[in-house]
This record gives sequence, structure tokens and C-alpha cells, in this order.
Amino acid sequence: MNAGIVLLPGDGIGPEVIDEAERVLMTVADRFGHSFTLTRYPIGGIAIDSFGTALPEETLGACAASDAVLLGAVGGPKWDDPSAAVRPEQGLLRIRREMGLFANLRPITVFPQLAGASPLRPEIMTGVDILFVRELTGGIYFGEQRHAPDPSGEIAHSTMTYTTGEIKRIVRVAAEAARTRRKHVTSVDKANVLEVSRLWRRTAGALMGSEYPDLDYNVVLVDAMAMHLISRPAAFDVVVTGNLFGDILTDLGSMMTGSLGMLPSASLGNGGPGLFEPIHGSAPDIAGQDRANPLATILAAAMLLRHGLDLPNEASAIETAVSRVLDAGIRTADIATDGEKPVVGTNAMASAVIGEI
Ligand code: IPM
Ligand code: MN
Repeated sequence: MNAGIVLLPGDGIGPEVIDEAERVLMTVADRFGHSFTLTRYPIGGIAIDSFGTALPEETLGACAASDAVLLGAVGGPKWDDPSAAVRPEQGLLRIRREMGLFANLRPITVFPQLAGASPLRPEIMTGVDILFVRELTGGIYFGEQRHAPDPSGEIAHSTMTYTTGEIKRIVRVAAEAARTRRKHVTSVDKANVLEVSRLWRRTAGALMGSEYPDLDYNVVLVDAMAMHLISRPAAFDVVVTGNLFGDILTDLGSMMTGSLGMLPSASLGNGGPGLFEPIHGSAPDIAGQDRANPLATILAAAMLLRHGLDLPNEASAIETAVSRVLDAGIRTADIATDGEKPVVGTNAMASAVIGEI
């Protein structure tokens, strides 16, 4: 296969972990006889510094014309002023919107080798394997926003909107995924308070009943879901929810495993190129020190091969290699427990994975 992959290193540890994922992708290309062309473009803070915008048109154009996009991370203290007109996060929001990436898949899986890294008791974590399906181009992150003077000082509005069309298409993604898994879908909303959640619940329920009668389906309020995720996470298979709730619950979910540095995610649209990235952020405090865990980005590259290029065997080769490296006790600092010293750096970890591939 000939594939054009756009790399968006971004800020902080982004460039380091992308460099390592590139080495892994080139190894896979070599081993399986593919030709991948990897090209870097700026996004986030680094793009603001050079171009005055977090998502230059050239970057967007290259992503749209590619076969798949691999992103590092964006943001950092340098661009953190919440009142700034131009912010790194705008690059992410805009690329999702422009590329129509409405479905964000965030698998929360426990690597048995790292079971001890979770802040939750091992018996609670046993069997945890959740696929979060977060709606990514609608809801309150994209609704109308206003800010105005008010007799008391100021007033601000952010609006949460969903159309039945947006709800149906994300619920279908969740349901299709559930059919390949344990056949259970949980929809999370706040229907006891929000009108938009009542529409979500009605629409999701009707669709699941008519199109997916073969699947188990239940609904949970978002506040209760936060509780259930800590007390009985193994009870969930596929969880579908809106943009804001999904943002919050997936951070909770990722920390549950104790290894944020291990988790990849995929953002998919309607057949166009997908965007693949680690769940973690730009970690500016450890940037440039060869301390970041590259495995989340390497596993995002595996998701890119599976979901973006339809190369499941190549994806499995990476995942198996990562598992073997963990079996061998090789750890970056973030996933090492006390007995596991010394730890390796970013580059050595990726080299270990490459050795296994
Ligand atoms: C994420 C991030 C983004 C989001 C931010 C950086 C805009 O937190 O991907 O979860 O909220 O979607
Ligand atoms: Mn987030």
C-alpha cells in the first residue's frame, strides 16, 4: 500500500512522541512491504508563534488530502492565557470540525502488566475494557457563545445543542462497535435537567430499539456515571455520550488505568481521513528531556493502521510488540512501580517496540 500520512507534532512532548511513532510506522512499512509518506505540519502553539493561527490553512489542506493524520499534543504555559484571542486548543477544535470528525473513540483498557499502576483496587479493575464513543463536533463546544455587560457586571452564555441527526450518527457508531464487542451500549446524559439531553435520550432510545434490538442498551445520568466508573468500571462495554460529558468522563476513565501514557484515541468522520492521537496532553514540564512515554502515540499509530488504513495485521503487530515490551518489564517513568528501576526514556522505549516488530 502507498499511503500519505500527515504528522502534526504540536507542542511540548508532542514532537518527541511523534518522532518515535514515525520510526515505528516506518518499521511496519518495511516489514509488511508498504510505502508510507510521512509529512509534518504545524498545529497548536508552535503554529501560533509562526503563523498567528493554531491551524494554518496549509496544515488543514494537507490533512484533508491525506490518508490519515497522527497528532502529538497541543498547548503549553506560553499560550495559556485564557483571555488570549488565539489559543492552541482552537487548532484541535477547528480540525475536528473542518474534517467532520464527529466520532471520538477512546478505548480504556487495562494492560495486565500494569494492573498495579491503577489508583483503584485490582479487584475493581479486573476485566475493565470500555470503549468511550464521544460526540466530537457538536454540543456545547460548538454552540453559540456570547459575552456581554450585565447590570451586575458581565454575563456569558455557552449553548449546548444537538440535532437528532447528530445524535443518531454517533449512537450508530457506538452500536456498530458494540456488535464487534460485548454487545452492550450505555448512553450517558443529563436528562433529568437538560432539554438537549431529553432529546438525546429519546432519539438514542428509539434508534437502539428499532435498528439494534440485538444489543443490550441502558441509560445512565452523567453524575451517576462518574460514580459507577469508579465503583464498577467492568460493568461497561461501549459508552456513548456528548462532547462535554465525554471530555470529562474520558479523563476520569484514562486515569483509572493509572497509565495515561498508554492510551490512544481515534477521531473519525464519514469516510474521510481520520485523526489519531494519544489521550494525554503536551506535558510541557517534561518536554525535551527524553522522559515522555511514547506508547500512547505508538498505539495511536496502531489505531491509524487499523481504522485509518484498514491494515489490521499491521496494527496487531504494533500492539503485540508493545505487550511484549511490557512483559519484558521495560518501563518509562510514568508506568514504573517501585520495584521497576531503572526506567528507560522515550527513545529507548520506542526502540524496544521496534525490536519486537
Ligand atoms: C481533549 C482535549 C480537548 C477537548 C481540548 C484541548 C480542546 O481536552 O481532546 O479531550 O476538550 O476536546
Ligand atoms: Mn479532554
